[in-house]
Amino acid sequence: MSSAPDDPGSPLEELAALVADGVAEVAAVKRLDQLGELGGRLLGKRSRLSSIRAGLRDVSADERAELGAALHEARGRLEQAVEDRRRELARAETADRLARESLDLTEELGRGRIGHAHVITQTWERLEDVFVGMGFTVATGPEVETDWFNFEALNLPPSHPARSLWDTLYLRTDGLEGVDDEQLLLRTHTSPVQVRTMLRAVREGWGPPIHVVCPGRVYRRDTADATHLPVFHQIEMLVVDRHVTMADLAGTIEEFTKAYFGADLTSRLRPSYFPFTEPSAEVDISQPDGSWLEVGGCGMVHPNVLGACGLDPEEWSGFAFGFGIDRLAKIRHGIGDLREFVSNDVRFLEQL
Ligand code: PHE
Repeated sequence: MSSAPDDPGSPLEELAALVADGVAEVAAVKRLDQLGELGGRLLGKRSRLSSIRAGLRDVSADERAELGAALHEARGRLEQAVEDRRRELARAETADRLARESLDLTEELGRGRIGHAHVITQTWERLEDVFVGMGFTVATGPEVETDWFNFEALNLPPSHPARSLWDTLYLRTDGLEGVDDEQLLLRTHTSPVQVRTMLRAVREGWGPPIHVVCPGRVYRRDTADATHLPVFHQIEMLVVDRHVTMADLAGTIEEFTKAYFGADLTSRLRPSYFPFTEPSAEVDISQPDGSWLEVGGCGMVHPNVLGACGLDPEEWSGFAFGFGIDRLAKIRHGIGDLREFVSNDVRFLEQL
């Protein structure tokens, strides 16, 4: 089957060479536009393939059948080669374009620095861990609340003077069918989750007894300063059972204090007032220097609150407390100004 370069040999030999050369040429092409050109040259009207086909009429009938079949096969193989190469090149071009057009959106803060959870998130998670370790489960509720859950069910009827203890952000509800203005608000504390949890326990029949903690974000109409943020965080604890007393409350707070701050710190309760607890107290935690820092409020769940949640106050009693998560983080890390938590200065954040 070997033939001199200028002697194409029999038409069948020439076809075989055409295919072999064509396939090699197609494989060598690097760009789609060049492939289009080459495809035209190999398969178009003026291609060698077409002129061999035109010569079919000059050969004998037997040869014509054989050559026709060979032509058909040769065309098929060349078309296939062009098509395969077209796919390869298209895929490579797309990958190339994506690589060229992709943007690196990571902020370069310097070598070896990687991010971590915000100190408030760390504190929130540590508090959950401590309470879960003490046998509590975690409950949550919505940040947009109704007046009923945030105040009324907590023994604060409309116009109760103690409502002024919470500077409330109300939501405009004009246009919202069935909702009056001043009914929707941003919750001012996590205490409405007490109410939601008691109602759910009764409805679903799994409690009391109830032992939950409710961490969450809360809102007050306040100007940010060193000791106040309009958006901050609380963790609420609620126990409802038979015959629980103020001593159980004090014991639970003390156990928590030691678990969270360490064995050498202690807690104390100072008489106070909250409409939803009776008696009520402020919780202070001792500092290494002997001073006391206020971290939240607590008390025995008011009978009216139990009643609003469908629990008989003759049968059940409860205690609750609410701690400021931001304040606990402030104490633990010795931070002077609460606004540091939200100013997002990396120099601050990376220390914690
Ligand atoms: N909800 C109260 C506050 O935000 C704190 C508190 C919780 C007090 C539970 C008593 C019992 O000020």
